[in-house]
Amino acid sequence: MQGDIQRVLITRRQIARRVRQLADQIAQQYRHRPEGLVIVSILSGAIIFLADLIRHLPMRMKIGLVAVSNYPGPTTAPRGPRLVRQLQPEIRGRDVLVVDDILDTGGTLRLVLAELQKLQPASLRVCVLLRKPSKAPADITADFVGFDIEDVFVVGYGLDYDDHYRNWPDIAVLRPELYAAARNPRAAATDRA
Ligand code: XMP
Repeated sequence: MQGDIQRVLITRRQIARRVRQLADQIAQQYRHRPEGLVIVSILSGAIIFLADLIRHLPMRMKIGLVAVSNYPGPTTAPRGPRLVRQLQPEIRGRDVLVVDDILDTGGTLRLVLAELQKLQPASLRVCVLLRKPSKAPADITADFVGFDIEDVFVVGYGLDYDDHYRNWPDIAVLRPELYAAARNPRAAATDRA
């Protein structure tokens, strides 16, 4: 796996420090809400971020999960998000915080926020670990952001490429020829020959 990584963009230590800071900001935001939060997280990229973040949040919370399909198969080109599963507690009248791995083009969050808004939460905010400011659309804003990153496809700390690399502890950029192989299997086969 290590041989597939071109460079580390954000180290595990930087992530750990920033996740604690984000948790402090979130705790501060909701400090006068004794009934706590409903956190809705988006599978599967956010699972590791979610697990770390909530363990730094000393408050009442319920957790909901939604599954959105973006990248079917070995590709870095999104095909348009589809909501494929929802597992969530009562949203109506509750403070809801959506936790996701990355705000890229915003299609995923636009879909999830629209669905949640229909359920009439008292408030609806967004926390993302990563944001690509060069691509993030004006209509989707994140209230809590871990890191702004350049427009490169990243893996690790929950983020995948064709469902691999989620367990890599740092956030990293893959060697570009791996993507090229997925985009053009015949060329890749020729390259390997
Ligand atoms: P959008 O474009 O809808 O993207 O904001 C959000 C979802 O797409 C996935 N995504 C990525 N996954 N590396 C990944 O591993 C990336 O650089 C990347 N950009 C977007 C991710 O699932 C995210 O929730």
